[in-house]
Amino acid sequence: MKNIIVTGAAGFIGSHLCRYLLKDKNNKVTGIDCFTNHGKDRYSKLNMEELNKSSRFQLAAEDLTTLDWKKYLADDCVVYHLAGMPGVRNSWGSNFSSYVTNNISVTQRLLEACSSLSVDKFIFASTSSVYGEKTGKVSEQETTAPLSPYGVTKLTGEHLCKVYEYNENIPVTILRYFTVYGPGQRPDMAFHKFLKAILKGETITVYGDGTQTRDFTYIDDCVKGTASVISAGKTTGEIINIGGKERASLNEVIAILEELTGKKANVMYTDKQKGEPLHTWADISKAEEVLNYKPGTTLREGLKKQTDYIKKLYKYDS
Ligand SMILES: NC(=O)c1ccc[n+]([C@@H]2O[C@H](COP(=O)([O-])OP(=O)(O)OC[C@H]3O[C@@H](n4cnc5c(N)ncnc54)[C@H](O)[C@@H]3O)[C@@H](O)[C@H]2O)c1
Repeated sequence: MKNIIVTGAAGFIGSHLCRYLLKDKNNKVTGIDCFTNHGKDRYSKLNMEELNKSSRFQLAAEDLTTLDWKKYLADDCVVYHLAGMPGVRNSWGSNFSSYVTNNISVTQRLLEACSSLSVDKFIFASTSSVYGEKTGKVSEQETTAPLSPYGVTKLTGEHLCKVYEYNENIPVTILRYFTVYGPGQRPDMAFHKFLKAILKGETITVYGDGTQTRDFTYIDDCVKGTASVISAGKTTGEIINIGGKERASLNEVIAILEELTGKKANVMYTDKQKGEPLHTWADISKAEEVLNYKPGTTLREGLKKQTDYIKKLYKYDS
């Protein structure tokens, strides 16, 4: 039985990853999460529903700032470190200290705990936010220049991974996710907020003129790519972009959502937010080569699934 640890297991990507890993009967998953970001609300509960039914899954509802890692880590286990404080907009001001704690200190603590063991693989969830403002497709060689405090904390997490790989031989792989969406998406993320507002007839706030584009990654594609690190050949030391099948502007997304819901969106355009690049675009050729990664979900298919999920989550009939 493969022993896999997933931090952030109650979160958006973490809960999907656990479900996907449990499809393989040879995997046993320990999910660790203290429900910091969203509370034990219906969002996190829905994420955990199916997982709690599996006999090969155990949830440790513990805080990574204090947890005793000896209870969970063992030689030959695989560690997916997804826990953290996500979100660019909230990372300014007094919130920054939580980003430092949950994205930097917690990562260092986990790496330190892995140092005395021989873990099979250590996978760190990083972000496209480490790149900052770029033009065209961005490959992993591109200079990092985060625009937000969030991006700085994730980049620091990456550097810590590299430091522990170099000095302690921890077999680290860094995945840089590009805006992930789909069922289970965090309530603070754009598509979740847009769909909720459209279905309720409320106003959507768009920062800027809506022409900003993102490389949108459907959750199933993201999770398949993430899970494939376990069976891929040499991944130690690699930094790999995980992008989606399609890029689009926010205005294009809103138009699709209007079609899918059959409702007109009330959009209020407001000032562009600091810390957010105008465009993101992932060069995924390395993921294709190293992980055999092939994102297959079109934006329309993915948004249809997210629309159905939002209706179920908030019990909207139409
Ligand atoms: N969602 C995206 O589009 C996206 C894009 C790029 C990178 N990422 C990264 O992927 C990871 C997962 O993102 P997500 O969208 O699933 O976020 P999420 O907030 O849904 O999940 C993160 C989980 O980590 C948990 N957590 C945070 N601090 C903790 C602590 N100290 N102890 C225990 N649990 C803790 C939270 O309770 C939460 O359930 C994050 O590291 C994020 O930075 C996400």
